[in-house]
Formats: sequence, structure tokens, C-alpha cells
Amino acid sequence: MFSRRTAWTRQPTPLAQLRADLQADGQSVCDLTDTNPTQQGFAYAPDVIATCFPPCPHYSPEPLGLETARHAIHRYLQTHGGQLTPDQLWIGASTSELYAHLMHLLGDPGDCWLVPEPGYPLLDMIADTAGLSLQTYPLPLATDGYISMDALDSVRAQAPRCRAIVVVHPHNPTGHLLAPDQLEHLTTYCAAHELALVIDEVFLDYPLDRDPPLPTAARPWPCLTFTLSGLSKVALLPQAKLAWTAVTGPAQWVEEALERAALLADTYLNTATTIQTGAAQALAHAPAMQEQVRRRCRRNLSIAQQVFAETEITVRPPPGGWACLLRLPALQDDDAWAFTLLKHQQVLTQPGHLFGLDRLARGPHLVLSLLVHSDIFLLGCERLLAHVQQKE
Ligand SMILES: Cc1ncc(COP(=O)(O)O)c(C=O)c1O
Repeated sequence: MFSRRTAWTRQPTPLAQLRADLQADGQSVCDLTDTNPTQQGFAYAPDVIATCFPPCPHYSPEPLGLETARHAIHRYLQTHGGQLTPDQLWIGASTSELYAHLMHLLGDPGDCWLVPEPGYPLLDMIADTAGLSLQTYPLPLATDGYISMDALDSVRAQAPRCRAIVVVHPHNPTGHLLAPDQLEHLTTYCAAHELALVIDEVFLDYPLDRDPPLPTAARPWPCLTFTLSGLSKVALLPQAKLAWTAVTGPAQWVEEALERAALLADTYLNTATTIQTGAAQALAHAPAMQEQVRRRCRRNLSIAQQVFAETEITVRPPPGGWACLLRLPALQDDDAWAFTLLKHQQVLTQPGHLFGLDRLARGPHLVLSLLVHSDIFLLGCERLLAHVQQKE
């Protein structure tokens, strides 16, 4: 009765099962994986939800998004050097949802997208539901996120039905930034091979090794380019459910993409009017929220660097984003480290293989969220160190 494409494994991993058991047992877990910004003690403006998103009695839908919301997002992109007009924006309920729409727009079942590895495991299930296959191109830690065009080309050459290349900037979980010349190479490459470029900029406001703003990719390029982001990360409002993609590139492709997108979006019309009406206010609050997050991430990074200084644990400082990678001694694999750490120290981390780090990084890696409250982050790092030292 059910489709093959939704026959995903639902068995909890041993790590997830252990966490559930500990919680059922009433034991508190020091969670170093939490990236839900609404639960990390950030100071939101009072009544931000009520004032930004008042009830709206009228409904006059616009498939690609209300004009007021598009203007607000356009102003946000301009502060990052965006070069586009508000009518080159397509608004959706979340970045994930827009990824799904883009897969439908740019691929037929059996077609393929190229995605970076390591990477955040978001696209696999979306691709399954769209009937697309994903091929990974390498983003080795050793090259600091610099994409080898030769490696990319050899993956593409094996994927004749390739339709698009995905880039995440800053990358998740490594935090690597895209060098300006790299973006130019990619757009020229995509134009030459008639591929679309999909750039995920949800962490654009979170450079950690330099001052903001980072430049947006929402600019004219020789290839059709979709630049994604949303209030979830930009304004720390995942509950608002508002995201966007900018559509830039050669005029005839942009026009064709937007006309098809309007029909696709019209089929669902699922971005709430109330939320779109409040987008300008939510974005006005965003810089103050982003500053708190950058401060928290930098503080936690320096905590990790201090706690693990001169130990067998290597901190890989991310240039941007909300995550930090640790390399642990090769006494056991990353799953075993994460499991034993949770079991013996009640510290929850993410094993690197969930992000494909086992294939491209030497040694077992754990991924920590830098968003976590600093007291908890410090406690978790200290327990992690104690656990590693006991094992040695
Ligand atoms: C790189 C990246 N893109 C997109 C998303 C999803 O964002 P949204 O909440 O807008 O669906 C995430 C979620 O963490 C992410 O890490």
C-alpha cells in the first residue's frame, strides 16, 4: 500500500535510544547538540511574536509572497550586497520546503543533484520524496572548504542526469566560507554545463572569525542561481515559518523559473499571511538577535579551545556557523565515543558520520552546537575531557 520512497528506517539509533532511556529514568542530559535558538536563553524583544505577527483578518494571497514581505527581505539582502529586485524573490514556509520545491522545479524522477560532503543531513529525505538522487562531491577539511573543481567535475561526469549543484555558505557543520573567486568559478562552471546553482545561506549572518556582513550570493551570475535563507536562522524565529529564495542569473532563465515557481507555489499557498505581514518587523529585530548569537558562539568556541588546549582532543575552529568539530583520539570510532560519553557522563554530542565526516576527515569527530548556553557548554566540555582522559 505504501510507497517505496517513504520506507525509511524508523528504528532509533543506539545513541537516540540511550538518550530516551536516560530521560525516562529522570536523569538530566547535558545536551551539546541543541540548535533550537528559542531554548538557549537569548533575549528576544518583549512580545516579539505578538507584535511582529498580529492576527490578520484579510486574505489576498500572492503565490511568490506578499509585496511587503518581499520588500523587507530585499532590504535584508541589500545589507549583504544583494543585487536583485524584490520580484526576484520567492517566499516559502521554510528553507527545507523551498528545497523540495526547487527539486520539483529543477529535476524529474531519476535526475540528480550534487551536494557537498561532509554536510548537514537535510536533503536525503527531501530528495527521496522528490524522486531525485543525490551524489556527493568532496569538501575535505584539509582544504578549508575550498572546492576542488576537478573533483566536482569528475563527480558530475559520472552523473549524466545532474541538474543542480548545492553549496552551503557558511557550511554546516564545518563553518567553512566560500572564497569569492570560488563562487565565480562555480557559476561559470554551472553556466557551461547548464546546471542550476543552489546556495544555502541560512548561516550568512554568523561569521565567527571576522565581522559581518558576509556578501550574499543573490547577485547576477552567468548561471541560474537560487539563494536560500529564512527567519529561522536570520531572526532566530524558526516558529515563524518564513523563508525565501532569491532567483538570479540570465534574464530568460530567471523569468522562466519565476513563472513556473508561481504555479508550483500557487498549488500550496502555505506561507501564512500573518507571518508575511510581520516579516519587516521580524527582520528589524534580527541584527540584535544575531549579535547575541555571534557572541555566544565565539564564547563557546573559546571555552572549547581552553578546555581542550594541550590535550588529545583537537578543536577545529569554524570560520562561521553554529557548529564546532572536535577530533578525538582514534581509540574507538565516533559512534562509540558519542555513546560512551552519553552513557558514562550524560553528555550528548553528534557523531561525525551523521554528517559524512567519517569519509573525509581523519580520525573520529564529534559535532557540538555552539548555540548551547555557555554554562552547559563548559560543563559538557569538561566532562568530555574527563571521559577521554579516562579512556586513555
Ligand atoms: C544548512 C541548513 N540549511 C537549511 C536548514 C533548514 O532551515 P529551515 O529551518 O529554514 O528549514 C538547516 C537547519 O538546520 C541547515 O542547517
